[in-house]
Amino acid sequence: MTAPIPLIAGNWKMNGLAAALSEAKVVAAGAGESRARVALCPPATLIERMSAALAGSPVLVGGQDCHAEASGAFTGDISAEMLADAGARLVIVGHSERRAGHGEDDAAVAAKARAALRGGLEPIVCVGETLEERKAGKALTVVTGQVKGSLPPEMAGSAFAVAYEPVWAIGSGLTPSIAEIEEVHRAIRETLVAMFGDHGAAQPILYGGSVKPANAAEILAAAEVGGALVGGASLKAADFLGIVGAV
Ligand code: PGA
Repeated sequence: MTAPIPLIAGNWKMNGLAAALSEAKVVAAGAGESRARVALCPPATLIERMSAALAGSPVLVGGQDCHAEASGAFTGDISAEMLADAGARLVIVGHSERRAGHGEDDAAVAAKARAALRGGLEPIVCVGETLEERKAGKALTVVTGQVKGSLPPEMAGSAFAVAYEPVWAIGSGLTPSIAEIEEVHRAIRETLVAMFGDHGAAQPILYGGSVKPANAAEILAAAEVGGALVGGASLKAADFLGIVGAV
């Protein structure tokens, strides 16, 4: 079985005004040589402009979240169909900042993943344990439970990615050891294969949490690591390209 094509995705979170599009253009100019697929997920306000600015480049544009419904009375929310209409090709769902800050449980994340597929977007489904859960020896149980609960059966046959992001590693400068990353990624792979068979073996499992140019090569070379979901270091084109170049 051939290994999944790596994916390096940048998550700008709630950062980026129009001036930041110049960083995206630098990423696009430098990402062409990579064997990885490269994506940037800016705030929703920039998706359409970034898609236009990067048209014809290899860099894909993604959203950071979507509502489960296609349209309706949901003030402030954005549907997968709207993201796709604005030029997005992917969408992050279940980021820990959404799970913790907006009360999204596995069922809500699964509904969003289903919505992403319905809207023609490739979902990047995030999972990850808290520090308390890791210290209690529950990291594998928590993460595999999230994978089972957050990926709907409709994922069978559609392209998707899972991002393992330990909550305590996000924005903290801390990362798990390579052995810890490999242990969790192997458990996620086993779970995906149990759920989706060969299709579950062909989708990339990204690592996320304090990935930077200095640690990217070691992390990306780890077993079952099929790319990275990058927060802070995706805001500067030079840093993000340093990670893309480490694949
Ligand atoms: P970080 O964020 O790279 O800034 O740690 C990762 C993420 O939240 O996706």
